[in-house]
Amino acid sequence: MRKPLIAGNWKMYKTKDDALAFIYAVNLEVPDKDLVESVICAPSIFLRDLVKREGENIRIGAQNMHYANEGAYTGETSAAMLKSYGVDYCIIGHSERRAYFNETDETVNLKLIAAVNADIIPIVCVGESLEIREAGTTDHVVKKQIEKAYLNVDAEEALKTVIAYEPIWAIGTGRTATPEQANETIIAIRNVLATLYTKEVADKIRILYGGSVNVKNVDSLLSMSDIDGALVGGASLDPKSYLTLVKAALKK
Ligand code: 13P
Repeated sequence: MRKPLIAGNWKMYKTKDDALAFIYAVNLEVPDKDLVESVICAPSIFLRDLVKREGENIRIGAQNMHYANEGAYTGETSAAMLKSYGVDYCIIGHSERRAYFNETDETVNLKLIAAVNADIIPIVCVGESLEIREAGTTDHVVKKQIEKAYLNVDAEEALKTVIAYEPIWAIGTGRTATPEQANETIIAIRNVLATLYTKEVADKIRILYGGSVNVKNVDSLLSMSDIDGALVGGASLDPKSYLTLVKAALKK
């Protein structure tokens, strides 16, 4: 009932030529978009070129946006600007932005609302540190992140969002959450959504897992009941590896 979604997050990697070579390499190979949503979230400078060349079955996303429609915010990009270039998704609240660029639960909330208003699908990131995982308070911390992200967001708007559960200790470390661990936390997130909205709404919102997903572990992660796809860093940079991941989602 929930269509699988595999989103690559290129972070700050690649040059223009690499980005174009990638899109040409994957365009004809990605699965039918009615079966799997294949997304690449690229650095903003590549977005225009990628959207111009995106094939029928792949979509392009940004990695960040500002929450204001417009204004004196030097260096920033609004949701309306992204939309006007044909960008369809935007990662919001990635832990790297929370850690290095002052992203807070409050700005995540404002950005989520701005994205939905501009018809951009936000991929809203939540996740705990190793300290929190070891203290056994993951569900509580993630619950607070979700509640704050979805403040003043009604059910209809919430249905236009995607969530990515990315434990910080699993990002770029090669240390993946076990499929059971990831699924358990994702079920906890779904329960929070059911409390905020209804079970029916919670059952419709896609929740991805992110953190050291690769061609070897993708099948076991995607086999879990509540993991609807993946947000992938390192393993999304190589076209072959990205294609293996999106094709793995066909088995979901
Ligand atoms: P890695 O897949 O490189 O661990 O990165 C995960 C991530 O941060 C995706 O947003």
